[in-house]
Amino acid sequence: MARILDGRRLGRNMGPALRARIAALPRPPGLAVIRVGDDPASAVYVASKQKRAQRLGFHQESLHLPASTTQADLLAHVARLNDDDRIDGILVQLPLPGHIDATVVLDHIDPEKDVDGFHPENVGLLSQGRPRFVPCTPRGCMALLEDAGVELSGAHAVVVGRSNIVGRPMAMLLEKAHCTVTLCHSRTVDLAGHVGRADVLVAAVGRPEMIPGAWVKPGAVVIDVGINRLDDGRLVGDVEFGAAEARAAAITPVPGGVGPMTITMLMHNTVDSAERRLAGRSA
Ligand code: GUN
Repeated sequence: MARILDGRRLGRNMGPALRARIAALPRPPGLAVIRVGDDPASAVYVASKQKRAQRLGFHQESLHLPASTTQADLLAHVARLNDDDRIDGILVQLPLPGHIDATVVLDHIDPEKDVDGFHPENVGLLSQGRPRFVPCTPRGCMALLEDAGVELSGAHAVVVGRSNIVGRPMAMLLEKAHCTVTLCHSRTVDLAGHVGRADVLVAAVGRPEMIPGAWVKPGAVVIDVGINRLDDGRLVGDVEFGAAEARAAAITPVPGGVGPMTITMLMHNTVDSAERRLAGRSA
């Protein structure tokens, strides 16, 4: 049976070092989180982020704006937070309501406060192998792999899903860690064949159990980014956990794997930002 890669435990273990860095700052790190509308999953995620930030003693500004908010209003909030010196990180929770162009909004966040790592300047820096802000979920996946002592150099990594939030940056990070990377997506031919050749499999599609455990290469390391709620209320990942656990060397559970690490890495990105800004550095 696979070893379980426990994101809650790793997040807790990283706590003392992060708290020591916060204590060494002349003021608390500042995080602004903007949520627009009433997407139920976003409400849960944002609440977790705020709770963790509060426990760490962050200065927080939390905005919950109505679904009818105009793009211009949202941009005005972003501009105000860009200019607020107490704020080191600005996060606009996605998805946004359909009448707002998320790309325009993300492009207006000060790239030196872009703790999500979604601004094109930060995507560009990551793609050149000199990251400033690494998107939180991929950074959390890499931390889980590192903590588990997985040998990445020369390994064949298969990422399923090409989103800007997870799949694309994940592929870049694995390549930087010297994996040979295959990036699969909805048009991929013979997905089962690709998955079956993965030493490291990262599933980031958002479709419940779409990767059968029987596809997993024996001895592979499986990182499941999916958090899907079934009609019966259960949360499952993108990988069929039971059968995958029987074949893999290590696997992340859902919940309790990648999810908690995403929040941990948002806290790290915000503290990184506070340290850089207070030292007058840009990267
Ligand atoms: N929606 C789902 N994941 C994320 C994330 O990492 N950041 C933001 N801003 N929105 C999300």
